[in-house]
Amino acid sequence: MTGGLPNGPRGALPQTIRFARDPYGLFLDGKRRYGDPFTVPTLFGRWFVTGQPEGIRTIFGADPAGFGPSAAVPMQWYLGPGSIALLSGRRHLRERQLIMPAFHGTRMRAHTATIQRNTAQRAAQLRPGERITMVPFAKELSRRNVVRVLFGAQDQRRAALLADAVRDVVGAVTPLVAFVPLLRRDLFGLTPWRRIQRHLAAFDALVHAEIRARRSAGGPGDDVVSALLFARDDDGVGLSDRDVRDELVTFLSAGQEAASHLLAWTMYWIHADPDVHARVLAELEPLGREPDPEALVRLPFLSAVIDETLRIHPIGPSVERKLAQPLDVLGHHLPAGTVAVAATVLAHADPRTYPRPELFRPERFLERRFSAAEYLPFGGGVRRCPGSDFAVHETKITMGTLLAGHRFDLVDRPPVRPRRYTVTVGPAGGVRVVYRGPRGKRVAL
Ligand code: HEM
Repeated sequence: MTGGLPNGPRGALPQTIRFARDPYGLFLDGKRRYGDPFTVPTLFGRWFVTGQPEGIRTIFGADPAGFGPSAAVPMQWYLGPGSIALLSGRRHLRERQLIMPAFHGTRMRAHTATIQRNTAQRAAQLRPGERITMVPFAKELSRRNVVRVLFGAQDQRRAALLADAVRDVVGAVTPLVAFVPLLRRDLFGLTPWRRIQRHLAAFDALVHAEIRARRSAGGPGDDVVSALLFARDDDGVGLSDRDVRDELVTFLSAGQEAASHLLAWTMYWIHADPDVHARVLAELEPLGREPDPEALVRLPFLSAVIDETLRIHPIGPSVERKLAQPLDVLGHHLPAGTVAVAATVLAHADPRTYPRPELFRPERFLERRFSAAEYLPFGGGVRRCPGSDFAVHETKITMGTLLAGHRFDLVDRPPVRPRRYTVTVGPAGGVRVVYRGPRGKRVAL
């Protein structure tokens, strides 16, 4: 199972620029021109790209000790060295062992009522005829939800302070600042650096106050902060306060943007296709205008719509593993230093797995199950997204609550294209809709 790298495009720059403009283009063009697998020289090392399930299975199943530092390393200054996204090898596995129970499905289910309340309260503030851009709308909802899940039940004022601090930190980090070290200094107030530092300091102060409150209370509560503070590995060792802070920043930044893109794309696809819209409403109808959130979580067609949304518009176009030791993939011998890339976009557009992949067809998820190497919106193997259950639950409850009680129309004309945001890919223009009023009431516009 050896062989050289397959031929790939020459010259990193044109591909890199194209990548920035069209986040799926690098993969789709690469496959069209060079076949699968192909390689791309990038600023972060040579990428070996495949969307073939067999190759993806090898990458996800490889010994984690053979992976180097994660692709998120440029974000270290902001996430902190204890962030799970930055760790590798044994330390990463230990940290996963500590954090995964905090994200377990049953624990997440404790928050269904809060997610629904947040959605219903926000929807009640909408005025008929009002235009909404879904990405910022969903971000605000997702911020409130994630603050509740991470920090638990606390008074409204503390929740609002935390939500604002999160908004300020996440909002201040632009892609340029995230990836260009030169901009991470205070050039006479000309860069956003000083502002980011101020927001981070305010956020850290609030987080450390929450940690102190939990420690002095002496026992675990129902939130993720408590779960992290009181978690112990097999040797009885837990996380330091600093580690807990780094994990919280990671969850907040990893989750919020991605979750808001999922909600915005779901809204888009439901309203872009009248058949899908009719079927979603027919499924919601028996649940009434204020559906039980647990019932929403179990709706098969709504679940299939969300699965299909993540298939056709993956929020991360690929999953990367930098190799610390050689790995054989699809008969090619990849030397250490290569970045082995499971191309989600290619796997999800493979007509052998998904006939007519260009069509939005939620039914495909009702007709058969897909393997972890065929369907990978949350990555895979030892780094698979710990927030996946929460994100999918949140989307079902939010979307179900919005559509059961309210009417919306799409303002944007399909197709809405994907574009790169800070760390993830989302809908260009943010998906604009107009609010038509509560369901079942005629509203004069
Ligand atoms: C629609 C929403 C989301 C999507 C599509 C998504 C997707 C992903 C993907 C593709 C990865 C990389 C996995 C890999 O390398 O194999 C990842 C990692 C991660 N995600 Fe998510 N995510 C979402 C929401 C969330 C939420 C809500 C949280 C937390 C509250 C979260 C926390 C994380 C963390 C901590 C990692 C790093 C895991 C590690 O390196 O071990 N994500 N996510």
